Amino acid sequence: MNSRAAITGVYGYVPDYILTNAELEKMVDTSDEWITSRTGIKERHILKGEGLGTSHMAAKAVGGLLAKTGTAPEEVELLICATTTPDYVFPSTANLICDMTGIRAVGSFDIQAACSGFLYALTIGSQFIETGKYKKVIVVGADKMSAIVDYTDRTTCVLFGDGAGAVLLEPTTEDNGIMDSIIRSDGAGQNHLVQKAGGSRYPPTHETIDKRWHYVYQDGPSVFKFAVKNMADVSAEIMERNHLKGSDVAWLVPHQANKRIIEATANRMGLGMDRVMLNIHKYGNTTAATIPLCLFDYESQLKKGDNLVLAAFGGGFTWGAIYVKWAL
Ligand code: ACO
Repeated sequence: MNSRAAITGVYGYVPDYILTNAELEKMVDTSDEWITSRTGIKERHILKGEGLGTSHMAAKAVGGLLAKTGTAPEEVELLICATTTPDYVFPSTANLICDMTGIRAVGSFDIQAACSGFLYALTIGSQFIETGKYKKVIVVGADKMSAIVDYTDRTTCVLFGDGAGAVLLEPTTEDNGIMDSIIRSDGAGQNHLVQKAGGSRYPPTHETIDKRWHYVYQDGPSVFKFAVKNMADVSAEIMERNHLKGSDVAWLVPHQANKRIIEATANRMGLGMDRVMLNIHKYGNTTAATIPLCLFDYESQLKKGDNLVLAAFGGGFTWGAIYVKWAL
């Protein structure tokens, strides 16, 4: 192993349109009080515009990242996009992002691990740096959840928003960067959180549309139980095997699905909420984008050498945690 992969740049993008709890109150039988107390969400950003997909937001995040880090598109050697809402079944959204940002003739591919997608993609991307194969890898997490959310279903439509975040990975020989990673899955979770149609098992038909199978289905309380346990367990596990106590961790960077799940994870890790990155109130659950958007929003508060634990849980089920020592 040559060196570690370090995050040397971060950028985020959310679309302009804001869907507030007050607006949702007019669409379904819900209330600002219910949404805020059960989830912590106040508003979410929604991508509007004919023909605009996940790649539109991801390309904004990647374009911003290239400009901010002074990286020319020709220098990028690999781009990985984590998404559950690709523009097309094929080609991959990563291919489209490269085209839109002038990144040519490099490897690019999508990762699908629902809300844990960014952690999976970051784990994969960092391997290409650690082996010495590449020196500049971009990892993007992006989702247009509004494309698959049923705005007549109050149990899911209040939860999700659209957004994108991207990081640049480069090698470092210092004692920082991506220090450790755990990724897990259990396909037994498939019936609790699923978009049933649109893939090869149930291609689109009039019947699948009538049954509303092209939308997110979630058995919220079941997912909640698995999420609380597994996100907390995996965060505790990565701390234990890296000999980190609660006082050693500067920030928990959690997937933003529900404030109560985040609080339970922080509690298990022995962290006060003042050391937890939170933006669920303004973005909702942006699936693969939540973690890079947190890093982008909190970047000014991060110091070189800070210990960060990134943790997520999502459809599949999938879950994981990454220990990052901040390198910037
Ligand atoms: N407004 C008002 N009432 C509502 C709403 C709403 N928007 N949604 C549900 N309710 C009602 C329910 O119908 C139920 O009513 P009932 O008791 O009369 O049947 C009541 O509120 C309680 O519903 P619960 O589902 O038990 O509420 P809960 O406290 O579990 O919160 C939630 C629901 C927010 C979805 C929670 O279960 C959750 O966060 N689950 C986990 C989400 C998650 O982590 N997902 C993984 C990542 S997502 C991904 O990978 C794509």
